Amino acid sequence: MIRGGNPLHGKVHISGAKNAAVAIIPAVLLVEGKCRIENIPQIKDVEAIVSILKYLGASVERPADDILEIDATGVSSYMADCEMARSMRASYYLLGALLGRFHHAHVRMPGGCDFGVRPIDLHIKGFEALGADVTIERDVVIAHAKHLFANSVYLDFPSVGATINIMLAACRTPGTTIIENAAKEPHVVDLANFLNQMGAFVRGAGTDVIRIQGVEHLGGGTYSIIPDQIEAGTYMIAVAAAGGDVVIENIIPKHMESLTAKLMEAGTIIDEMDDAIRVRSNGRLKKINLKTMPYPGFPTDLQPQMVTLLTKAEGTSVVIEGVWESRFQYVEELNRFGVDVVIADERAIIHGVEKLQGASVKATDLRAGASMIIAGLMAEGCTKVENVTHIDRGYEKLVEKLENLGASIERIHE
Ligand code: UD1
Repeated sequence: MIRGGNPLHGKVHISGAKNAAVAIIPAVLLVEGKCRIENIPQIKDVEAIVSILKYLGASVERPADDILEIDATGVSSYMADCEMARSMRASYYLLGALLGRFHHAHVRMPGGCDFGVRPIDLHIKGFEALGADVTIERDVVIAHAKHLFANSVYLDFPSVGATINIMLAACRTPGTTIIENAAKEPHVVDLANFLNQMGAFVRGAGTDVIRIQGVEHLGGGTYSIIPDQIEAGTYMIAVAAAGGDVVIENIIPKHMESLTAKLMEAGTIIDEMDDAIRVRSNGRLKKINLKTMPYPGFPTDLQPQMVTLLTKAEGTSVVIEGVWESRFQYVEELNRFGVDVVIADERAIIHGVEKLQGASVKATDLRAGASMIIAGLMAEGCTKVENVTHIDRGYEKLVEKLENLGASIERIHE
C-alpha cells in the first residue's frame, strides 16, 4: 500500500547485482575449493539458485547476510531437473556450468518474467559449437558431450544469457573459444572477473569479442559482486518521478550513463561522484524519446520504470522496445492510474498528464512491479500493488529502502 505524493530525501544504499549473482553462484560448480562471494543481494532469485546448488550437493554457508561461502567440490550430480529450476530464468546458467564440469547437464526449462517468447537457441548454438548434443525432452534441456572442444561462436544477437553460458561451458574446455558479437553488460564482465579470480583465462569481456582459453582447474577464492545497475536505476527514476533529492550510494556511475543522460534530458539534475549519484528533481519533467538496446544502450530492464516516469512529463514521449518483443504488457495496469499510454508497433506513445490518481494494480513481472510502485509514489491518494512476489525476486528490502527515503509505503498481508 502506498500513499503517494511524498518527495524522496536522504540516501539509499544499492545492493549487489541480481543478474551477476545468479550467474556467479552457478559458476561455482566449475570450481574445486571454497568460494567466498560478497555483496550478495538478499532476494528470492538468489535463494532459488542457492537451493538448486544445495540440491545438487554443494555445501553452502552464510557467514553474513550478504556473504555466501559455497564449496561445490563434492557435487557429483548433473541433474538439475528439479521444480525449483523452473522458478527463475537464470537457472539456464546451470546448463553451461554443469556441461563445463561434467560434460552432461539436465536442467528443467527456465521460467522467470514473461515477456513473450524467450528462446534459448543461441545458447544451444554455442553448446553445439563446443561439441555438445542438445535435446529438449518434455520441459528438460539435456546436453551431453563426449569431449568438449574450443570453437568460434558468432551470436546473431548479443544475448546476455548465451554469452554467459558459453563462457561457463568453455572456461575448462581445452583450446581458445571465441565469442563474437558478445553481450557487453556489466554482469558479463563481472562473471569474467569472477572466473579469472578463480584461475580462468577470459579476456575481452565488455567488448564484442571474448576469448576464453580453457584451463584444467579452477580453485577457490574470494570475490565481491558489483552493485546492481537496475536497482540503482530504479531509485534514480523513482526520485525523478516522485520529486526530491537523494544520494544513491554504492554504485558504478559509468554503468548508469545511458539513464543519466536521459534523465538530464528530461530536466532532472544529476551529480556524479566516485561511487554515488545525487538525483534532484527540478520542476515538471519534459518529454523525451528513447529506444532500449543492449549495453551500453538504454537497458530494457529500466523501460517500464521510465515509461512510468514519462506519464507525467510535459508533451508526448515515445519509447521503443528494442530487446524484448512483448515488454509492454504492464501498460494496461499503468493506465489504471489515469495516464495516457498507447502501444503501437512495439513502441509506447506517452501523452503526459498533469497528475496520476492512486489505483489498485498488479505487478505483472519484476520490473513492471517496480514501475507500479513508482506510479504509486507519483500518484495522488492510495495505491495497492498486488503480486509483489515478482518484486521480491529482484529488489532487496524495497519497502524499507523507500520508507527510509520518506515514502509512505507498507507491506500488507491479505
Ligand atoms: C538478461 C537479463 C534480463 C534482461 C536481458 C536483456 C538475466 C538473468 N536476465 O536476460 O533481465 O532483460 O538480459 O538485457 O541476466 N534471444 C534469442 N535467442 C537466445 C537468447 C536470446 O533470440 O538464445 C533474444 C531474446 O528473445 C531477446 C534478446 O535476445 O529478444 C535478449 O535476450 P538475452 O540478452 O539473452 O536476455 P536474457 O539473458 O534472457
